[in-house]
Amino acid sequence: MKISVLGATGAMGGFVIKAALQEGYAVENKVSSKDNIENLFRDVDAIIDFSCPMATEAMLRYAIAHDMHIPIVIGTTGLSKMHIALMKDCARHVPVFTAPNMSFLISIINMAVYAMAKLLDEDYDVEIMDIHHKLKKDAPSGTALMLGKTIAKARGRNFDEVSDFVRYGIIEQRRRGEIGFSVQRCGNVIGTHEISFMGEFENIKITHEAHSKEIFARGSVQAAKWLLKQPNGLYTMNDFTKDLMVPMVKSLYKDFFTRRLDDK
Ligand SMILES: NC(=O)c1ccc[n+]([C@@H]2O[C@H](COP(=O)([O-])OP(=O)(O)OC[C@H]3O[C@@H](n4cnc5c(N)ncnc54)[C@H](OP(=O)(O)O)[C@@H]3O)[C@@H](O)[C@H]2O)c1
Repeated sequence: MKISVLGATGAMGGFVIKAALQEGYAVENKVSSKDNIENLFRDVDAIIDFSCPMATEAMLRYAIAHDMHIPIVIGTTGLSKMHIALMKDCARHVPVFTAPNMSFLISIINMAVYAMAKLLDEDYDVEIMDIHHKLKKDAPSGTALMLGKTIAKARGRNFDEVSDFVRYGIIEQRRRGEIGFSVQRCGNVIGTHEISFMGEFENIKITHEAHSKEIFARGSVQAAKWLLKQPNGLYTMNDFTKDLMVPMVKSLYKDFFTRRLDDK
């Protein structure tokens, strides 16, 4: 496979190039802010983007305007509804994959919090914290937002109505069903997310800590490999992991519920 990398001079870009070469792929075009966006589309099988919202927009607009048929993996975060509309437009002609977090473990956590939000009612207050290095520009992180949206969906709630991003001064009492976010931007933290379900008598906390950005780069290269086999459309990490996870989860719970006291 031959790929282009958008954001090639960045921290993520460097890891994507390394991960692609390790997989035996050729990195044909390395594009950053000093290059012309059209270079991305020169003689490759897929594009991987870890840049910034402005560059992602330019890439999508170019692909749409020039009817490009090269699959695109988008890891850039801080994207708006306008970007989603552009991705949907582009995905009519080509497979497009987007995920604010390319870690497989985060996919597992996303599934776990969905199940927990289904099992626990809104008496359990949900709080999501994200901690990242001081250079990160968007807040809350795309991952924190994704997890919050998963919980809102599991509860049948509109995310915009139940999410609370700002607490300062005299604030009203917590609303039932509210999903609270808190953000730390400090030091050199790669990315930590903590999701808490806080009840009257007991709490559950799930924490994910990324130790290296390399994990996201490897995930994006695997996603590109998978995307090449998909028909045109807009895909997320859920689609990527579904084939693998759904049979696994079904069998997991079958085994779990058939366990007996005297099982060895
Ligand atoms: N989905 C995930 O799993 C995941 C994981 C980690 C990070 N991210 C996201 O990935 C993105 C990049 O992160 P990073 O840590 O690699 O950032 P970074 O080190 O700041 O790198 C940004 C890259 O984007 C390029 N760029 C900036 N403006 C551009 C423009 N107008 N046109 C073309 N290229 C442009 C920069 O090029 P110059 O060097 O020329 O400025 C650089 O190569 C962020 O949105 C981050 O949140 C996602």
